[in-house]
Amino acid sequence: MKFFVDTADVSEIRALSETGLLDGVTTNPSLIMKSGRPILEVTKEICEIVDGPVSAEVTAVGFKEMMREADILSKIADNIAIKVPLTMDGLKACKALTSDGRMVNVTLCFSANQALLAAKAGATFISPFIGRLDDTGLDGMELISEIRTIYDNYDFETQILAASIRSVNHVKQAALIGADVATVPPAVLRALVKHPLTDKGLEAFLADWAKTGQKIA
Ligand code: E4P
Repeated sequence: MKFFVDTADVSEIRALSETGLLDGVTTNPSLIMKSGRPILEVTKEICEIVDGPVSAEVTAVGFKEMMREADILSKIADNIAIKVPLTMDGLKACKALTSDGRMVNVTLCFSANQALLAAKAGATFISPFIGRLDDTGLDGMELISEIRTIYDNYDFETQILAASIRSVNHVKQAALIGADVATVPPAVLRALVKHPLTDKGLEAFLADWAKTGQKIA
């Protein structure tokens, strides 16, 4: 499973990239707003830190304007994945952009049929939003499972990018189902490594080691 980080915070991205665990980055207009920085400038900086796909989202709702924005965003770096919303215009833009060899992430997916359309439009990534579905009382993970089945039924190459992840359990469930990628907020990514028994075990090993008076040298 690939890990993307879901943020436009450059210092977080740099720190996580140094761990070697990061395969890409996703941003959206809300995350750009939170960064407080101009979209082209901050996205360029992110692309210089991470080699993998960096999703940058169009903000237009009509096809023509989406394509114009996509053109500007594509020029930032070779590893840009254009993010388009799951609307008819977004799917049309997806088809045009992927036919032109660009990576496209179709975002705001809340149903299996929407994911089917995105795959037919040649999407590189489909982003089903788990947490936002859970918030409405539905089961976000069930959507991941349905999409996995549909994509496997027809050998679609579109990668399932589990999004709107809120917990370490979301990551585990998405991995068990076979999502190709999880885009994870920095705090959740860091929490994945934690286990109280790891901390306790390490403490005990270090205490015993200190008693030996030895050094590995
Ligand atoms: C995905 O690409 C989105 O940026 C993101 O996962 C949305 O998550 P949220 O529901 O926590 O805003």
